Amino acid sequence: MKKRLISMFLVLILGTALIAENRSFQPGKIWYDTTGNPINAHAGGFLFHEDTYYWFGQIMIPGSRGSDAWVGVSCYSSTDLYHWEYKGVAFQVDDHAAHPVTRGCKIERPKVIYNEKTKKFVMWWHHDINGQGHKNAMTGIAMSDKVEGPYEFVRIFRPLPGFYPFNISEEMKNRPVPDMAKNFSFTGGSLPAEADSLLIFKRDLHTGQMARDMTLFVDDDGKAYHIYSSEENATLHIAELSDDYLGYTGRYARAFPGRFMEAPAIFKKDGNYYIIASGCTGWAPNAARSAVANHLFGPWEELGNPCQGNEAETTFNSQGTFVLPVQGKKNAFIFVADRWNPSCPNDARYVWLPVEFKENKLMLRWKDEWDLNEFE
Ligand code: DGJ
Repeated sequence: MKKRLISMFLVLILGTALIAENRSFQPGKIWYDTTGNPINAHAGGFLFHEDTYYWFGQIMIPGSRGSDAWVGVSCYSSTDLYHWEYKGVAFQVDDHAAHPVTRGCKIERPKVIYNEKTKKFVMWWHHDINGQGHKNAMTGIAMSDKVEGPYEFVRIFRPLPGFYPFNISEEMKNRPVPDMAKNFSFTGGSLPAEADSLLIFKRDLHTGQMARDMTLFVDDDGKAYHIYSSEENATLHIAELSDDYLGYTGRYARAFPGRFMEAPAIFKKDGNYYIIASGCTGWAPNAARSAVANHLFGPWEELGNPCQGNEAETTFNSQGTFVLPVQGKKNAFIFVADRWNPSCPNDARYVWLPVEFKENKLMLRWKDEWDLNEFE
């Protein structure tokens, strides 16, 4: 008994020492937090605030509905990007069945930004109502005075009812919505070529636009944007946020019409905006896409699949969620992705890879292990 206790103690000490020692990224391997528990922050987003990185993500659990929100959104902090300290549940689901964020709803792809004017931390996510799958395609907002939370629920809604995107032609505006648009929903398989002619944004003009996979981006001038898969996922919308980041100005653009982009991740380098997104195949991985623009609203020029080598066609068996700028290094960006595991969602792994730039294109190459010295 005494021997067993001693060996357990040694394993614990050794484990903790290894975690403290580890100064590399190992894509696809289980990543432990500083207390030795696997990091549970899926489809995450990152915020750098007062010399510290914060990682927010979906807390997943085992089981067929383990990717739904039974707990909420977690928060971890780090100063070196290798070691992450668990800060707790930043935004919690609600116990009351009638509450919009009741246990079992969907809180997907949460992202947090900081508002310099109001001094508030604002969380946005893709929201869907408990037990209704992804059909409501809504947006949620919560807010906090402290970066690690607790975040207070603000509201859920469909974006921009009554507003037209600014980059559509008069002809498109005047064309009637085809009957087919009423019943159109994309459930996977080959992509419907006609999606863009169905005028789904017009179908949804009065109810508000559909909003599923999403990210937030704050530009150098402090203006923030919500980028989300809309129109039954066929087209991305890029919408400018109001000064308090709690709503919109009403100005928004359509991008990549009919291309069925999910998992958008945006970053800026040398005045250009880059996007890495996925295709639309549920939890199954697909080939990433990339694009560049000199304004966030576009026009965007597609640059193709940035992945190279084995498993390039499945984004190395993962789907992106964020591109994380590394502080204190020039042009250093990390592509952050999730390797989904639908049969055991909490065991989804993280795939972090350096973004390389080659002949004005983006490049992602697999690495079993790497560290920040990869960047100049
Ligand atoms: C792919 C999306 O990117 C995920 O966030 C999630 O919504 C799954 N589809 C659900 O199938």
